[in-house]
Parts: sequence; C-alpha cells; structure tokens
Amino acid sequence: MSKRFYITTAIDYVNGEPHLGHAYEKIVADVIARSRRAAGQETFFLTGLDEHGQKVQQAAQAEGKTPQAYCDELAEVWQRFIAKLGLSNDDFVRTTQPRHQRFVQAILSKLHAGGQLYKEVYRGSYSTKEETFLTAKDRRPDGSFDPIFGEVIELEEENYYFKLGAYQRWLAEHIERNPSFIQPAHRRNEILGFLKNDVLEDLCITRPASRLSWGIPLPFDPDYVTYVWFDALSNYASIPASFGDPALAGPLGLPPSASQPAPSLWPADIHVVGKDIIRFHSVFWPIMLKAAGLLLPLQVLVHGWWQKDGQKMSKSTGNVVDPVRVIDDWGVDAFRYYVLRELDIGQDGNWTHAGFKSRYSAELANGLGNLVNRSLSMLKRYREGVVPPVSTELAADGERALTETRAHLSQNHLQAALQSIWSLVARANQYVDHTAPFKLAKDPAQGRRLDEVLYNLTEVCRILAVLLSPFLLETPAKIYSQLGLGALPGNLSAATWGRLPPGHRIGTPAPLFPRKEGC
Ligand code: MSP
Repeated sequence: MSKRFYITTAIDYVNGEPHLGHAYEKIVADVIARSRRAAGQETFFLTGLDEHGQKVQQAAQAEGKTPQAYCDELAEVWQRFIAKLGLSNDDFVRTTQPRHQRFVQAILSKLHAGGQLYKEVYRGSYSTKEETFLTAKDRRPDGSFDPIFGEVIELEEENYYFKLGAYQRWLAEHIERNPSFIQPAHRRNEILGFLKNDVLEDLCITRPASRLSWGIPLPFDPDYVTYVWFDALSNYASIPASFGDPALAGPLGLPPSASQPAPSLWPADIHVVGKDIIRFHSVFWPIMLKAAGLLLPLQVLVHGWWQKDGQKMSKSTGNVVDPVRVIDDWGVDAFRYYVLRELDIGQDGNWTHAGFKSRYSAELANGLGNLVNRSLSMLKRYREGVVPPVSTELAADGERALTETRAHLSQNHLQAALQSIWSLVARANQYVDHTAPFKLAKDPAQGRRLDEVLYNLTEVCRILAVLLSPFLLETPAKIYSQLGLGALPGNLSAATWGRLPPGHRIGTPAPLFPRKEGC
C-alpha cells in the first residue's frame, strides 16, 4: 500500500483551557491536510490529548475524581472544541488509550534491550510544590529559589536515563543534510546552534511510581512510570503502529494489524508544533526514534505564538481569545480566515478585535462576499439566472490564481495562498467596476458584451469556491449551492477555467458574510 501523507499537531494538555493558540495550530494542520487531499494525495491527520503527569493527578485528586474519570470529562470538552473548529482529523489520540500505551512500552523495551538506558542516582534541589528538580537556571541572582517553588529540599532519587548525548553529532549532521527537517529556517538555525554549542545532557525518562502514579509503567521495572514527554511524543507513532503500520510494527515486534493491508503512514510528513516545544520535537523525538531503529519524521513545522492586545494570553488576567465565542459570533470561516491570513507560519501574532473586524469587513464582506453577491444577483436579474456562453476574458487571472495557490500550498505557505486568491477577488471586483454591467444592461445593443461579463464573473465565483475549499468550511459549499451546482469538488483541478456549463441555471444568491454592527 502506498504511503499516505501523514500530518500531526501537538497533543494538548488535557487540563489546559482550549484557546486561540491551540485553535491556530490545529487549523494550520487542518488546512495542510485538506490541501493535500485536494491535490489528490491520500492523507491522514492526527490530533489529540496529553493526559498523564503530576498536574493531572493532583487536579483530579483536588476534585475527588480518579485521574481517568477526570480526563474522560475534559476529553469531551476538547473534542467539542475540535468539532467547533471543523477539523478533518482522521483520528484522535489520548495517551491513556491502551493502543498508545502498548507502543510506549514497546519502544521502552527496545531501548532497554539495546543498552540505550541506564539507571542513576541524582541528587539535587527539589521543589515539593512543583514536584520537580530545580537547576541553576531556576536560582535568583542571590542564589535563592523563587517562592513560587515552595519548599525546596535536597533530594536523592534513582531514575532511568536515556543516552541522548551519544547522538548529538549525528543529529546535527542530520539537520545539516536535511534543510527541510526543521522549518522555518530561523528555527532550524536555533537548534543547530544549540547542538553545536551546548552539551546535550542525557534525559531522565522515568519518575518513581511512589511519587507519580499517573503514568505508563515501565515494562521492565514496575517501580517507575514513564516521563510524560517521552510518553507524549510517542503518540505520533503509536497510532500508526496500532494499525499495524509496517514501518513501526515490524521493527518493534508489535502484532500485525487486524485490518489488512495496514495503512502505511510512518514516517510522518509534518509535525506542526509551537515554538516553545521545538526542542522536544527536533532533538528528543528524532533521537528516540533513531535509537529504536525507526525512521525519522520528514519535517517539524514550527509556528509562532499569539498574543492578545500585545500581552501574553492568560486566564488569570482574563486576557484570552476564546475561539468558541468568536465562532459563535462571526462564523467558523471568519475565524479560520483571520488566523491564517494574519500570520505566516513561524511569525508571532497579535490578536486585536479591531484587526479581526477590519479583515472581516474589508476582505470577507466587501471583498469576497460582495463579489459573489453582486455577480450572481446580476446574472439572476439580467439573464434569469441562466449561464451565458463560455468567455475567457478572466481565464488567465483564474489560471494564475490556481497555479499560485497550488504552488504556495505545496510549500505550506498558507498566507501567501490566501493572498493569491484575494488577488483574483480584487481583479474580479475591479472588472465589475470597469465593465459596469448595470450600464450594459440598459443598452440592448450590448447584449453580447453583457453575456461575456456575466460568464466571467460567475466562473470566477465558482473558481474561488474551489480554491477556498482547503481553507474555509461553509463558504465554498454556500457558493456552490448558490451557483446551483452539486457537491463541491474535492480536487483543486476543478478550478480550471470554463467548467461552468452554459445554459445552466443558478440557485438563489444570498449574502455570505452579513455586515455587522459597527463594521
Ligand atoms: N502537551 C504538550 C505537547 C505534547 S506534543 C507531544 C503541550 N501542550 S499545550 O497544550 O501546552 O500546547 C499545545 C500546543 O499549543 C503547542 O504546540 C503550543 O505551542 C501551542 N500553543 C499554546 N499557546 C499558544 C499561543 N499563545 N499561541 C500559539 N500557539 C500556542 O505543550
């Protein structure tokens, strides 16, 4: 079976509050997944939840619930959130699922058998409140620890360590040989700089079960559970492995799949992650895979962070953007459009309500919405909604938009693709102003000319619907339905000029983006 395009997002902490940052990452991955499907590639898109660890254990305890019951409740909230964003994910992983745990235990066993782990006693300053060892970096200039760490004691603890350090040179070479492994380039340079100038310490991959029980037990030592990042990173491979993916199941000695033939997903094509967790993904994860004899993902695509009104988003100060509210008020397409159009992947962003409203009004309502509404209304009014003979006056503009959109999407330049699509919107709106069909309609001698203008405008609307289909969820289908055409085509090739059949009768035009108070 040929390999599918496989894309993932970071898995969110189950006890976190879903906000703009989580939504943005998921939408970026969703648009990339949809664009690959629209290019005819079989695609698999995975997202999910990170459910183990101290914080979850404590929060569950505080609410008098078992950690599993606590996670199950929150998982529903997250799944509703995902549905609200309209994600086209093919599966949803939760790290408490047995299918995931089997993989984590298999990779741990393989590393252990291969001599990649060792046990060692660590002695250091331990924060009882944060339940973590502190390092020199956590000290204040006077050498003391911040009160946020609570009581700090000297503690000795024995744990398993993974020999990361042994792979430092190999990883630097791998990143140098594969420029697209970490994108964008400034993030790649950041990791290369780290690998060349710092010492990569071995990684502590266990916690004693006596102080943390909410984790995946080590298969070879029940006194320990797996460190939450080792557990979480494994999700990207655990799900394909659970289907029996030959690139994973074979090397790890996992059972063959029940469904034959097993889908071929691994290695992942793209892991979409935020800039704060780049090191986990582009240092720890590739080394884990390499040490276990598994193939490496092809790319870690790193996005920036959103602020709101120039400040870090924080629930405690109330400075958060709640995507669910924005979607309820403005529609899912307005939300998806804004976040994708505002930021190129990799840049940091700043959400302001004024900025959001201004794009809604200028680009969606007055740009796209107005074009479609006036084009279809004129066809209705002047030709009773019947498509005139094919004309090619805007064909070159349509073809350019298609070529550029395809090229940008193949590079994951989502913002640039939207800019190309909006050049076609602007060109067509300008064409209405120049050709003035409302004047042509008053002169019976201009009937042929009016036919040409109306064909060009209606065909541009159809092409825009197809081009927008990886980005927006409702608008493309609404345009198709107003055009009286059937289901929206699944492939971008439908955006080739001249497919709108003459003689076809369109449906009823209706505003796509209602103007709002104060816009
Ligand atoms: N559970 C870990 C990831 C494990 S992946 C094997 C985690 N979870 S998280 O919930 O804190 O973050 C999930 C993703 O959301 C991360 O990629 C993170 O960068 C992203 N964002 C969280 N806040 C963000 C913004 N304010 N802006 C953009 N993305 C941000 O980390």
